[in-house]
Amino acid sequence: MTRQLFYCTECGYESRKWLGRCPGCGAWNSFSGQPAPAKKRGAGPAARGAVPISVTEAAAEVRGRLATGLPGMDRVLGGGLVAGSLVLLAGEPGVGKSTLLLQLAGRVARPEAPVVYVSGEESASQVALRARRLGVEQPEVLLLPETSVEAVLAHLEQLDPGVVVVDSVQSMTVDDVDALAGSVSQVRQTAARFQELAKTHHTPVLLVGHVNKEGMIAGPKLLEHLVDVVLALEGEPGHDLRILRAGKNRFGTVAELALFSMTGDGLEEVRNPSAWLLDDRQAGAPGSVVAVAVEGTAPLLVEVQALVTPSTLGTPRRVAQGFDPSRLALLLAVLERQAGVRFGDRDVFVNLVGGLSLREPALDLAVAAALLSSAADRPLAEDVAVFGEIGLLGEVRAVSRCEERLREAAALGFERVAMPARQTAPATAAAPVPIARVGDLAALLR
Ligand code: TYD
Ligand code: MG
Repeated sequence: MTRQLFYCTECGYESRKWLGRCPGCGAWNSFSGQPAPAKKRGAGPAARGAVPISVTEAAAEVRGRLATGLPGMDRVLGGGLVAGSLVLLAGEPGVGKSTLLLQLAGRVARPEAPVVYVSGEESASQVALRARRLGVEQPEVLLLPETSVEAVLAHLEQLDPGVVVVDSVQSMTVDDVDALAGSVSQVRQTAARFQELAKTHHTPVLLVGHVNKEGMIAGPKLLEHLVDVVLALEGEPGHDLRILRAGKNRFGTVAELALFSMTGDGLEEVRNPSAWLLDDRQAGAPGSVVAVAVEGTAPLLVEVQALVTPSTLGTPRRVAQGFDPSRLALLLAVLERQAGVRFGDRDVFVNLVGGLSLREPALDLAVAAALLSSAADRPLAEDVAVFGEIGLLGEVRAVSRCEERLREAAALGFERVAMPARQTAPATAAAPVPIARVGDLAALLR
């Protein structure tokens, strides 16, 4: 008899009774009832007979990285796929996970090291159609439409592939787990089996994991501790921009990111993100400001738009897209107090153009400039880009990577950069416009 257990679908916390809020991760309404998963016999690493390995040998293993043929992907991974690593690619349905991994398959497949693309959601012909569209026509890309983990593992033993893709972890089932595909226990066991395969055969395995906007079902949180790397592919509906970043990386930093554009023939890395993001900018319009951000380790120019309009609502609206809403509230309070602009009876919208979402303190000054510009209905001088953090007292605070920011602004044709006055600017083609207090921004309005 299996006893009824409840699981948190976010983090896997187990409980005898249903709980409204998970004590493990704090998620609300995340419990689902499922039969307890069958206990695995002798599963610990000791039982599998792990042997001690010297640190130098272990380090050499990490150095043996496989280039994916997608430079952006390699960068985010920290220099390519590590042998024997288990990588989770998480993202909302339709964002382009299958596309990205099929393209990767085409780039890395070799006759002596084929790529097995396990498709649990689509038939071989559906995947083949997409492959043709993507120009992936190497015979070394082997499609395996299968949902049984045991069956897949049996094939992999025979094929000894160079890379394995499992699309998706939610579509697979392990035979001796009595639960539906996509359930907590199935997802966990599936990942555990592929982890074992990766480690014993030194084969990198890439798992696709779907995330849903309204609470994720057996999503990446659940697998985070099991996998070596969590990559997230993000994008806004209706926008071509896709952002790939690492949420966890046992073999590198999580600072790097790569920008892709979804085109008619697959994902194409955006080589000059700043130029791409500023492409259809409304220069000279009130409320439009170019911010010099840093994402990962690279500077990035992005247009910030603000719209400040009279409100007909008792509580005026504050809407931020791509920018932290609580940060927006703070900036509005600082501007009211320090720049004497009233927002109490006005709706405020702030948007980062291109569907990009950033958490970067240096965006503050650009957002403040956009708000002032829209509120005053006066455009900012067109040759100016902006960066700097704003403190609660209206002071403009120093930020990191000043020199890189100035160079990037200059490279994209900005002659002046409004930046923290307290920061010394190295000599570059873009002239610094020192801003000590948020109110100083008014001088830049035309
Ligand atoms: P897909 O890779 O199937 O997403 P996921 O696996 O994350 O669910 O991509 C689905 C979307 O991408 C779909 O709306 C069509 C679009 N797409 C393109 O625009 N160009 C292409 O070359 C491909 C293959 C897909
Ligand atoms: Mg897919």
